[in-house]
Amino acid sequence: MDKITLLQTKRIILGVTGSIAAYKAVDLASKLTQTGALVDVIMTEAAQRFVTALAFQSVTGRPVYTNLWHADHSGGLPTHIAHVGLGEGADLMLIAPATAQTLAKLAGGFADNLLTVTALAARCPVAVAPAMDGGMYLHMATQANLQLLQERGVTLIEPDEGRFASGLVGRGRLPETPALLGHIRRMLGRSGPLAGCGVVVTAGGTSEAIDPVRFITNRSSGKQGYALAQAALDAGAAVTLISAAHNLPTPVGAALIPVESAREMLDAVLDHSKNADVLVMAAAVADFRPETVAEQKIKKNADDDSGISLQLARNPDILIAVKALRQSTGYPRLAVGFAAESENLLANARSKLERKGLDLLVANDISAQDAGFAVDTNRVTILDAAGGQQELPLASKAQVSEAIIERVSALLGTA
Ligand code: C5P
Repeated sequence: MDKITLLQTKRIILGVTGSIAAYKAVDLASKLTQTGALVDVIMTEAAQRFVTALAFQSVTGRPVYTNLWHADHSGGLPTHIAHVGLGEGADLMLIAPATAQTLAKLAGGFADNLLTVTALAARCPVAVAPAMDGGMYLHMATQANLQLLQERGVTLIEPDEGRFASGLVGRGRLPETPALLGHIRRMLGRSGPLAGCGVVVTAGGTSEAIDPVRFITNRSSGKQGYALAQAALDAGAAVTLISAAHNLPTPVGAALIPVESAREMLDAVLDHSKNADVLVMAAAVADFRPETVAEQKIKKNADDDSGISLQLARNPDILIAVKALRQSTGYPRLAVGFAAESENLLANARSKLERKGLDLLVANDISAQDAGFAVDTNRVTILDAAGGQQELPLASKAQVSEAIIERVSALLGTA
């Protein structure tokens, strides 16, 4: 797991209660630690029946708190006094898994163990990720408790539907680690430099139909666009992700608009850019599409070996259409484009920036093995409308995205 800038040195209290899903919290604590967060785990007594404190201590490298009445032998204060401070300096408290019992205690304001004491004392944002069997989650008592907690500002991370350890099927499963991480990023990013800003990101290669089963597309994986959406979310933006890539997990908090063709993407971009602060066109939009789409699957002729010809029509240039929108409405306030070039990188990129009326253009050399399509790294140069040129070293697509979002924040004056 790579480091995540947003999580560096953030102190997260992970409260673990007595559910079989507690084993998943070990993975969460491990991944959070790998991203750079400091994770202080508090376990209830019931949680310790499912997993040990040692497991959490091993993955976090930090003491695990289990006992309200523990006093250290050097004469220090008992835990309930010494570690009320646990909640005070934390950036976030997440209780995952949160049992019906703990939710009821929190709703009632009870403080009978170290976890509930800390939740009451915490001044940081608090989130709960309920996990429980069968109808317990949907029971009116649990729902009423959750309603009350949300009214008080607690964030609810909804459980998934699926199969329980008991064999029953229903809603009540703790979401997997990537989803929990996404929620944590969303909460920590709320006060970032793009808070209150709307950012539209496009991603993936469009596919242009030939007939009902065939299409033309390109090698774009969508990874750079998805990383940009995540970086914008981490900076606190409201993100709309218009995606022609269909195999990547949607970053938590992004509104996903799935599209297929360039023309569908054009409609979606114009629609969502109307009120947006920023448009980032990371998608690889097909320049051409089959002029006609056959209504039935095109058949090969058994008696004839000759091929067929496809007549291609030009697709609209989305950024040129956005340029016209910006000229008439002033929105989106900023437009960022990409240029994937295999020759004359900077000269081609500069002329593209000017022709498409962009504020920033991210140029990448697709002839390099370690950069561009499908790989996890990229080597880019960011050109700006004032003539500036920022060359970034080879970096992960996440790091490249952070650099782009930093430039966007600076241009908007929000950094
Ligand atoms: O002209 P070229 O395709 O190299 O430009 C790349 C940039 O323009 C990218 O940001 C891409 O998303 C965008 N683009 C577009 N509409 C097209 C083709 C590319 O908006 N039809």
